[in-house]
Amino acid sequence: MSKSFKRTLVTTALPYANGPVHLGHLAGVYLPADIYVRYQRLCGHDVVHIGGSDEHGVPITITADKEGITPQDVVDRYHAMNVEAFTRCGISFDYYGRTSSPRHHETAREFFLDIEKKGIFVRKAEKLFFDAKAGRFLSDRYVTGTCPICGSPDANGDQCEQCGTHLSPLELIDPKSKLSDATPELRETLHWYFPLGRFQKQLEAYVEGHGESWRQNVVNYSRTWLNQGLADRAITRDLSWGISLPLDEEDAKGKVLYVWFDAVLGYISFTKEWAELQGDAERWKRYWQDPDSRIVNFIGKDNVVFHTLMFPAILMAWNEGRSEGCYELADNVPASEFMNFEGRKFSKSRNYAIYLGEFLDRFPADTLRYSIAMNYPENKDTDFSWTDFQNRTNGELADTLGNFIKRSVDFTNTRFGGEVPCGTTPEEWNSLGIDWQESLRKIGEAYDGFHFREAATLTMDVARFANRFLTEAEPWKVIKVDPEAAARTMAVSLNLCHALSLLFYPIIPGTCDRIRDMLGLEGSVGSLAAPGRPVWDGAALPGMKQGHRLKGSSEILFTKIEQKDLEPELEKIARLLAEAERRESGAQQQKMAFKPVISFDDFQKVDLRVARVLECEPVKKASKLLKMKLQVGSEERQVLSGIAGHYKPEEMVGRNVVLVANLAERTIRGELSQGMILAVEGNDGRLYVVEPQGDEIIGNSVQ
Ligand code: MF3
Ligand code: ZN
Repeated sequence: MSKSFKRTLVTTALPYANGPVHLGHLAGVYLPADIYVRYQRLCGHDVVHIGGSDEHGVPITITADKEGITPQDVVDRYHAMNVEAFTRCGISFDYYGRTSSPRHHETAREFFLDIEKKGIFVRKAEKLFFDAKAGRFLSDRYVTGTCPICGSPDANGDQCEQCGTHLSPLELIDPKSKLSDATPELRETLHWYFPLGRFQKQLEAYVEGHGESWRQNVVNYSRTWLNQGLADRAITRDLSWGISLPLDEEDAKGKVLYVWFDAVLGYISFTKEWAELQGDAERWKRYWQDPDSRIVNFIGKDNVVFHTLMFPAILMAWNEGRSEGCYELADNVPASEFMNFEGRKFSKSRNYAIYLGEFLDRFPADTLRYSIAMNYPENKDTDFSWTDFQNRTNGELADTLGNFIKRSVDFTNTRFGGEVPCGTTPEEWNSLGIDWQESLRKIGEAYDGFHFREAATLTMDVARFANRFLTEAEPWKVIKVDPEAAARTMAVSLNLCHALSLLFYPIIPGTCDRIRDMLGLEGSVGSLAAPGRPVWDGAALPGMKQGHRLKGSSEILFTKIEQKDLEPELEKIARLLAEAERRESGAQQQKMAFKPVISFDDFQKVDLRVARVLECEPVKKASKLLKMKLQVGSEERQVLSGIAGHYKPEEMVGRNVVLVANLAERTIRGELSQGMILAVEGNDGRLYVVEPQGDEIIGNSVQ
């Protein structure tokens, strides 16, 4: 950390309250944030963890319509469910709010009005589908129809689930309203747009200013958007559920703030609500409006640009023309990749998920927290599997950590009357073969740098060390010939138990409290630290005094997971996988469906040319892409193509390809792509590049 901060505000992406959170959410956002926060608290830092439910947005009204209940019913149900699941999992929010709260509505309106008064928004009229029977404009997801690409009869207005194509409602064949089955008509409506481009320079400076400290994926996503040039984004919608516009104008009637404009501001409203509960209503400002405070937004990779561009731009708009009451921007936005489940993406809409509450009904929270920490998707997607979960629980938690603690406590109870038999001198402690200062520094650095897998691995290494120490010292044998030596061994072991109860606390807090309890120590680990009162460094010192009485009994910290315990889970996963496969093969058996007819003139607009590949290389951090230099007549072009899984770079060099030569340039992963090459997907799932033969055709038109 280059700069030191007086306090830290940690926020976690607000999950939509239209379904239960699943293990993917936990792994990407809530667990890493909780681990981070717990570590910072142990270090005596002032840190506040704010989260909450995103209670607006179309997904919620759709769920309500489907179930025939009100949106309020939907959010009440899932808010409560998610709060309960997070609590059971030990996610230690200082405050967990709801975007339906009055304070939040007020905050969002205040932002809207401020920006409106400054004349920053742009109003634009557009034509949207309107359901005359229901008297409502239809957002994309409320329109259904036949997919123009695959012919599936129930494509959504934003995407066809069958073939995955992103659509606009206007592209659907035979569009229907989901509200009434009426054929929607196009009507004009006015919307407020946020001109992101106005903040282009400031946003570039913001992103580049963090180019070194942010994760590569976060910088790359943001740069891709910045390089394309930032467009105006609509921030209002024709909906009834949401935050209505605070304007007394005809044009503003029936409109609400776009859920993304409102949701990110939830971080602020909830900090205000937290401060009110602390009895100091102004306290939120210390976290949001003081340059000495640090803000960290934990999110998943699908939310990056909303946090690195949209939200900062909203704050920049607010700050414009102000000398006081200005908001600070996030210092870091640790976005995770995805954690898959048994080799597949979690998907709520496809019912492929393990929900957090459901998991905790079967297995203890700390076993899940540990396994997920070890699978944290920091730089690449990872996979959670039942077998991995079983191996880690049995081998690492039960056999290593649990076993060490229990043996230490039991032997002390039975052979030393449940008392720490002697002191451990600093010399003895420091000559055990572990460099405590160095270990703690490394683990701490891993936490500070958001490397949670590394932190968990290093911590388990300490447990392995402790377990080996006890096994090799063999006090159960030694006690017969040298009781004093056995006593020293047990004192060291108990001190190791104490050290582990601190070191493991960010990852498995419940277990650490149980260790403390067995050791006869008062209070939970979390209650020991306070701002300005660190306890983390205490792990580097012997913490158990001679004569201290243990509780006198012990418990098994982790029960091993037997194969039979996993059987129902494995059956369930087999069923879910089979369903997913059936759906996919169904999609492939679709009848031949061609894209809508285009005119000859339209076709003539496409400039197809034969090109030759001169050079070809992989693209860093984009495993699917190859970068090629092409010869097109007298010109050279650089093109990126998603064929890396199908061709080696050296296989491409020297081939002829067909280039779409007049396609607008794009920047992908920070690399310019000037066109596209044609390829066909085979029934085997491979891509075959279209390859015209001959030497005398390079640069010529394909007609
Ligand atoms: N509910 C949205 C999602 O889950 C947004 C989360 S981030 C925040 O993708 F901006 F709302 F905080
Ligand atoms: Zn389709």
